Amino acid sequence: MTATSSTKELSFIHRIEPASLPGRPPLLLLHGTGGNEDDLIPFGNMISPGSALLSPRGKVLEGGMPRFFRRLAEGVFDEEDVRRRANELADFVAEARGAYGLAAPIAVGFSNGANIAAAVLQLRPEALAGAVLIRAMVPLQDPPATDLNGKPVLILSGASDPIVPADNAKRLAGILNKAGAKVEHRMLPTGHALSKTDVDLTTAWVDQL
Ligand code: MLT
Repeated sequence: MTATSSTKELSFIHRIEPASLPGRPPLLLLHGTGGNEDDLIPFGNMISPGSALLSPRGKVLEGGMPRFFRRLAEGVFDEEDVRRRANELADFVAEARGAYGLAAPIAVGFSNGANIAAAVLQLRPEALAGAVLIRAMVPLQDPPATDLNGKPVLILSGASDPIVPADNAKRLAGILNKAGAKVEHRMLPTGHALSKTDVDLTTAWVDQL
């Protein structure tokens, strides 16, 4: 039986790849706009071989492209929807943990997936053991007070990212740091797309958890 054929019907369409090595942290893989549950599976296998991979598909469609929340324009978010969808995703994580017997996962999000992961950290911190936020920006202008209590967070930004201004990424790092997360923020000499440096830095970061 393949891993895919053991996928259960839960509140998000998703893929699950069971752990193949003990002691590796489960990863919650969150794709970017226009992606799906298959997109980050190879990335997950590269950065943490042997980890369980839980990969949902965003439920919001923008011109047919899956996302994790609605936006009003590029970089302008419908924050009511961000809140609703972050709670919905946190509920799915709890459901999937029960269904598949997983510990709290480390979210690994790219772009829109990184933004929803940042919102889940702020709204439902108990859902995640930590997060890797690749090309993330501030998801909520007025987040509730949260105690992130030393949760590890790696933020990887692109110095020439045309979608995420460097200042915005720095602001996100500051907000999460102030909320008590153990934040490492790296500004890479790259744009918005995933790069080999993202793979290398994320692999090293997951290894030292
Ligand atoms: C977003 O909408 O979450 C960000 O602008 C990133 C993107 O998906 O382009």
